[in-house]
Amino acid sequence: MKPGFKMQLIDRYLDLLEQTLTGAILDDLGFQPGEQPELLTHYDEKRRLLGQDWPQHAHTMVGLTRLRHLRQCIDQILKNNIPGDFIETGVWRGGASIFMRAMLAAYDIRDRRVWVADSFKGLPPPCSDRFPADKGSWLHKAAFLAVSLEEVQRNFAKYGLLDAQVVFLKGWFKDTLPRAPVAQLALLRLDGDLYESTMDALNALYDKVSPNGFIVVDDYRLPTCQRAIHDFRASNSISEPLENIDPTAAFWRKRPLHDCIPVAEEK
Ligand SMILES: C[S@@+](CC[C@H](N)C(=O)[O-])C[C@H]1O[C@@H](n2cnc3c(N)ncnc32)[C@H](O)[C@@H]1O
Repeated sequence: MKPGFKMQLIDRYLDLLEQTLTGAILDDLGFQPGEQPELLTHYDEKRRLLGQDWPQHAHTMVGLTRLRHLRQCIDQILKNNIPGDFIETGVWRGGASIFMRAMLAAYDIRDRRVWVADSFKGLPPPCSDRFPADKGSWLHKAAFLAVSLEEVQRNFAKYGLLDAQVVFLKGWFKDTLPRAPVAQLALLRLDGDLYESTMDALNALYDKVSPNGFIVVDDYRLPTCQRAIHDFRASNSISEPLENIDPTAAFWRKRPLHDCIPVAEEK
């Protein structure tokens, strides 16, 4: 085999997965809330690029740009040996998590796991007493967002990626994440839409993210999620810059260890 050929094959595999998981390969129709799926006739390339529609059949709604960015994050994690597993909190049909597992398979990495956290029955109703930012959210009524554990597992299996390196956490984040036996994370992918869901994930998992690890916020431009991100960053004095991925999503990287200011010893 010519030098570099294996890398070309890996790139082709991941390119193909990006196209397949997003439904771009088949021009899978998508719709936005309020649109009637049965009236759609036209595949909107730009929406799929930016993850701005809900695909009828595809396994992820995050779109091509966010999937490519996820690939770049994982490339950096592997290149720089940033320790830890990957987790997605809010997986829907599983596509973005499948992509994470696929990258481990492509590079033959066996000592990292992908954690797949979801209720597998949609979003919780808003609890506006505790989380006023979620008041009025109707997303818990969207049956389209409720995908069972069995269906997500079947989706992993279709790509040959359902194995012991994938761990499913079924239930509301507030119940599953604080007691999940996750030791260390190189990548925390937040995709639960609500203030509550974003905050519950950050409270349970942020301390487990390694220095230089990635926090990817899929719904940053949703006011509910953005409020949670700003509140969490402010109350934890997080000043690492938030960078845009596309018009909806953003990310930051946890401060490297050597950036920490040593605390003066008490006398
Ligand atoms: C927008 S979808 C995620 C999209 C997905 N990442 C993808 O690749 O297409 C949001 C998901 O978050 C889950 N979810 C939201 N809040 C949750 C919570 N508090 N506990 C458990 N699951 C939650 C929903 O069940 C749903 O599957």
